[in-house]
Amino acid sequence: MSGAKSKIVVTGAAGFIGMHLCEHLVAQGFDVVGIDNLKPAYGGPWSRLRKERLESSLGLQIIQMDLADTSRLSELIELFTGSTVVHLAAWPGVKSSHENPVDCVRANILAFANVAEAVAQAKAERFLFASSSSVYGDLGVKEAVREEQATGTNVKSLYASTKWMNEQLGKSQSESNGIPTIAMRFFSVVGEFGRPDMACWKFYKSTDEGLPVTLHGANGGARNFTYVKDAVAIVQKLIEAPLVGFEAVNVTCGEPIETITMLNEIEKNLGRSSERTVIKTPDYDIEKSWADLTKVEALTGHTSQTPIATVVERFSRWYTLNAKDN
Ligand SMILES: NC(=O)c1ccc[n+]([C@@H]2O[C@H](COP(=O)([O-])OP(=O)(O)OC[C@H]3O[C@@H](n4cnc5c(N)ncnc54)[C@H](O)[C@@H]3O)[C@@H](O)[C@H]2O)c1
Repeated sequence: MSGAKSKIVVTGAAGFIGMHLCEHLVAQGFDVVGIDNLKPAYGGPWSRLRKERLESSLGLQIIQMDLADTSRLSELIELFTGSTVVHLAAWPGVKSSHENPVDCVRANILAFANVAEAVAQAKAERFLFASSSSVYGDLGVKEAVREEQATGTNVKSLYASTKWMNEQLGKSQSESNGIPTIAMRFFSVVGEFGRPDMACWKFYKSTDEGLPVTLHGANGGARNFTYVKDAVAIVQKLIEAPLVGFEAVNVTCGEPIETITMLNEIEKNLGRSSERTVIKTPDYDIEKSWADLTKVEALTGHTSQTPIATVVERFSRWYTLNAKDN
């Protein structure tokens, strides 16, 4: 597949990863179309601000559409024809999936099925969609997990169940329609324009405002934190990787990092320390995510990891200028 002028439709384009992916793909010469309903799970002005940034810096217009609206299937089929589809739109967040189960199922199951149906009817070039490290449950606590170790029996949240169900539908559709399909298992993505419901943002805001920080388990557990620009570089390589059939791929790089290490970096950037409260890891959450990188490195050649100190420094600069007063 020649990447240079391929048409890519990105859903969830005004989301955290979606905005960075659109910027990256346009910079790489792709013809990008973005779709979003501009109603992220965490509210706030963030999707509007990301949309305005895409419009002002790239001239990219986001098509406002609810992907769960099945009456717009024919419009989607038209958009997907001749395109690679990267489906990121979702109700993300383990905790919020239990607080808002109907919203979660609508975005993660109904919208996913509608998009997958449009992909099949349009005979899209390729289908990549966002899955999650949460499909492994606690399998990553003891060892780096390989893609084939996920069986669906380890999921600990509604959110993880919806992502596992997406993978089953994506796999069976790919087997019947022959469209190359990739379930991208993202691991805790961090960076500028991130999500206010995620650890980096919550820790930063609390420390900045002198409020206590809550850690889940000793040292807050550990994650394969992935800088958003590393994540989107991997996605681009997956768009271009030689591939037939269905693959699930760990989308991350480097080693797991203790959450407390990220908090220490935040404190360094803010020049103040936080009051730390440690609570038991909630049942829906995991202690550690740890990815085996064999497959992602073989498919993409992406082996470098942006250090957490650099990630937090960039986040800090962005937050101070853009998020502090919002
Ligand atoms: N950020 C992470 O660390 C992480 C980790 C694992 C998986 N993921 C997955 O990656 C994807 C992107 O995550 P993100 O962090 O950018 O989340 P995000 O919430 O910032 O972006 C999702 C976007 O999808 C849009 N959307 C939701 N429902 C929609 C619908 N029905 N129709 C149209 N648009 C809709 C929202 O408005 C939002 O802009 C999600 O599928 C998420 O589950 C993210």
